[in-house]
Amino acid sequence: MRDSADSYDPAYGRVRRSRGRRQRKQYDDEATFARRDTHLPRLAAQEAGDATDGLPDGDRWSTWDQSTPTERGPVPHPVWLVTELAAVDTELGVLKTGKEADVCLVRRGVPGGRSCLLAAKRYRDAQHRLFHRDAGYLEGRRTRDTRVRRAAANRTAFGRQAIAGQWANAEFTALCQLYGAGLPVPYPVQITGTEVLLEFIGDPDGTGAPRLAETRPDAGELAGLWGQLVTALTELAGLGFAHGDLSPYNLLVHGGRLVMIDLPQVVDVIAHPNGRGFLDRDARNVATWFAARGLAVADPERLARLLAEEARLA
Ligand SMILES: Nc1ncnc2c1ncn2[C@@H]1O[C@H](COP(=O)(O)OP(=O)(O)OP(=O)(O)O)[C@@H](O)[C@H]1O
Ligand SMILES: [Mg+2]
Repeated sequence: MRDSADSYDPAYGRVRRSRGRRQRKQYDDEATFARRDTHLPRLAAQEAGDATDGLPDGDRWSTWDQSTPTERGPVPHPVWLVTELAAVDTELGVLKTGKEADVCLVRRGVPGGRSCLLAAKRYRDAQHRLFHRDAGYLEGRRTRDTRVRRAAANRTAFGRQAIAGQWANAEFTALCQLYGAGLPVPYPVQITGTEVLLEFIGDPDGTGAPRLAETRPDAGELAGLWGQLVTALTELAGLGFAHGDLSPYNLLVHGGRLVMIDLPQVVDVIAHPNGRGFLDRDARNVATWFAARGLAVADPERLARLLAEEARLA
C-alpha cells in the first residue's frame, strides 16, 4: 500500500507549514493543550513509566511517539498509518511462528477512531531460534559498541538480545531502502529493539495473505505473478542486492499483487565474494516453482543471467 499524500497530523501538519512564526506558536500551544487534555491517561502512564498502565490485558500505548525519526519508516508516512498519540496497540494473535521470529497481528487504533492492522515481527534471541545465520552473516555488520560486541561474542543474555536486535535492524534498514526505491515490500512502520512493525499484507478482517507456495494460480495469474517477480528481482539486482533467502515461502500474494518479505539477510552482491551465487540461488528457488507449474518462460538459468547483468556482474 503506498500513498504519495503527506501523513497529516491534525495537531501540527499543515498549520505549521502555512502560517507565520507567531501564529504558528499560538497554534502549537493550542495543539499541545488539546493533546494534553485528551491524553491525560496516557501522560499519567508515561510519567509512571508504564507502557500498559490503564489498558486492558494485551494492549499497550502505541510505541510510535517513543520512536525517533530514524526508527520510523520512510516519509511521507502512508495515510493509512495511525500516528496519533492517543493510539493503542492491541495484540490480536500470532500470524506465524517462524524459524527466527514470531509474527503477530496488531491493531493500532485510536479508541473510537481510526485504526490500521500491522504485522509485528519479533526476533527471538539465538537460544530460542531454530535456525542460525549469525556467524558469517553478521560478520560485515559488526557494531562499534565494544560492550555489545563482547557480550555478543560471549553470548550473554544481553549479547543474545543484541544479536536479535541486529537482525531486526538489518531487516528494517533493508525494507526502508527497498520501499523507498519502489520495490513491492511491506511498508516498514517502525523498529523497537527486537521488534519490526510492518504493514500487514492481508484482508481487513485480519486474514494474512497466503504465501506464493500455498496458492494455485491459473495460467493467466501465473504469468502475471512471474512478470511481477522478474520486475522486482531485476530492480533489486539493479540496486546491487540479492534477497538471499528467496523462495515461494517468502513471497506473499494479495489481490493479485506479489509482495516480497523476510529480508534481514539481504546480500550486497558487489561486496560479497559470492554475490553471484546468491543471485543464482534466488533465481533457481523461484523459477523452478513457476516452471513446475507449467510456465515455459520460467527458466532458472536465464533469470540468473538477467539478474547478474542487472547487477553488472556478468
Ligand atoms: N507484513 C506481513 N503481513 C502479513 N503476514 C506476514 C507479514 N510478514 C510476515 N508475515 C507472515 O509471517 C510469516 C513469517 O514471516 P517471515 O518469513 O518474515 O519470518 P521468518 O521468521 O523468517 O519465518 P520463516 O522461518 O517461516 O521464513 C510469513 O510467511 C507470513 O505468513
Ligand atoms: Mg520467511
